Amino acid sequence: MNGLRHLMSPMDFSVEELDAIFDVAFDIEAHLHDYKGALDTRILATCFYEPSTRTRLSFETAMLRLGGRVIGFADASSSSAAKGESVADTIRTIACFADICAMRHPKEGAPMVASEVSPIPVINAGDGGHHHPTQTLTDLLTIRALKGSLSSFTIGLCGDLKFGRTVHSLIHALTRYDNIRFVFISPAELVVPDYITELLDEKNIPYEATRRLDDAIPDLDFLYMTRVQRERFFNEEDYIRLKDYYILDRKKLSRAKSDMYILHPLPRVNEIAVDVDEDPRAAYFRQVQYGMYVRMALILTLLGETKAGINRGLLIR
Ligand code: CP
Repeated sequence: MNGLRHLMSPMDFSVEELDAIFDVAFDIEAHLHDYKGALDTRILATCFYEPSTRTRLSFETAMLRLGGRVIGFADASSSSAAKGESVADTIRTIACFADICAMRHPKEGAPMVASEVSPIPVINAGDGGHHHPTQTLTDLLTIRALKGSLSSFTIGLCGDLKFGRTVHSLIHALTRYDNIRFVFISPAELVVPDYITELLDEKNIPYEATRRLDDAIPDLDFLYMTRVQRERFFNEEDYIRLKDYYILDRKKLSRAKSDMYILHPLPRVNEIAVDVDEDPRAAYFRQVQYGMYVRMALILTLLGETKAGINRGLLIR
């Protein structure tokens, strides 16, 4: 991959480029130790203006497992953003120290603003209710690992489809694969935004919307559960009313196919009962593991550090 590239949306990479990243991620899974010195002179900055467990720590672990080092902040209040510094000035500063930056921000478009002035690759690690492309890479890699391909399945997306950025990014990404059918399961207040259904209409991609998880579950090949996004609600009363609208438990799961997989970007609140975790169809912690492998592959690719992968015949030049 030549030249400076950023990742703002999963659509920034072609399907072929994503396939190449997934091939590297699977190779990393199989031969983790072969990659341990690949980035031993490089530094990743993680600039997180919003809370995170998985995304920040999997980026940091990914870089450490590649032999690189990590700087950054996990909280805007401990950075000069608290003194009024702009995102543009922050990335110009970070670029003096680091080779690549993963940025999460509560404002939609903030990582894009950073990428427009940045001399180093910027990765959107989640911007408001907009996109979360590395979660989507994680989700796609997990689906490919579980199913062997990224085509010909029915996926139900359940919960907060209005504010859930992982849902928005995943739907966009899946529109490029064949024979996928969407079932949107949400209360009326949390339906998927119009711009997404308009995109599906334009592309003639089949979808249906329902409030009832019980009715939808028997037809699904994947069920993608999401939490209600408390931090994006305008009032607490609405959140309290909607937060436990869906709870996937063993009884509901008994209606699902024996090979239907359950995904969730996590964190979970109440929407999946903990006794579901023991079911072999519960794939959400495997998903977390794939998140680290795909972030390792992404960092290597964006830095053009082809040595480890090229030796194995994998990375894009
Ligand atoms: N899936 C995800 O983005 O989790 P975190 O908020 O913990 O990073």
